[in-house]
Amino acid sequence: MTATKCLSLSSQISDDWPGYSLDLFSYPAHYSGDLDCVIIPHGVIMDRTERLARNIMDELGDHDIVVLCVLKGGYQFCADLVDRIKALSRNSNRTIPMRVHFIRLKSYLNDQSTEDLHILGAEDLSFLAGKAIVGTGKTMKTLLKHVEAFGPKMIKVAGLLVKRVPHSSACVPDYVGFEIPNRFVVGYALDYNEYFRDLNHICVISESGKLKYKI
Ligand code: HPA
Ligand code: MG
Repeated sequence: MTATKCLSLSSQISDDWPGYSLDLFSYPAHYSGDLDCVIIPHGVIMDRTERLARNIMDELGDHDIVVLCVLKGGYQFCADLVDRIKALSRNSNRTIPMRVHFIRLKSYLNDQSTEDLHILGAEDLSFLAGKAIVGTGKTMKTLLKHVEAFGPKMIKVAGLLVKRVPHSSACVPDYVGFEIPNRFVVGYALDYNEYFRDLNHICVISESGKLKYKI
């Protein structure tokens, strides 16, 4: 089973969307001047995640699944998505028994993707055989190859964000929160050199923010 398909049901944020002014929302004062705008407010992320949880429940309800959370950037989305699936499982006749496993991917320095992708914690995923997986996070292509080798019955990928990259051959998740412009975003666990994970909204970093936290 392949995870590649059209982006038919994601919420699209267009290239000319200016975002919300930071003055409209609260955010940590230590980031003032480091951000250009709020591109997706936290509440909207939560509402969209609730709907993704329902779609997952509708399609996978009654399967046993192993959730593979991709750290660090995927931790918040994974936690919130699992939380919504748990709430649906409590309140309906359909349930999804879930086990949660964590792996770590690292490929970005500053705002650039580096060649070497490190997968940590995925040495032995043989327990995935015969299970359905909902992975959350980014940089899925390499990871999918790695996971497929363990022979799971089904693989489903959930990603909060997909960037509109021209001529991309990247895998598209089965469950997508938002399709966004090809800009570097931070917040909601997405970082720039480990900063901004402690920001609730998904924001566009400013040029001075990039300089301040550059390594
Ligand atoms: N922000 C943070 N991490 C990332 C991004 C981004 O826009 N793209 C890929 N990794
Ligand atoms: Mg990162």
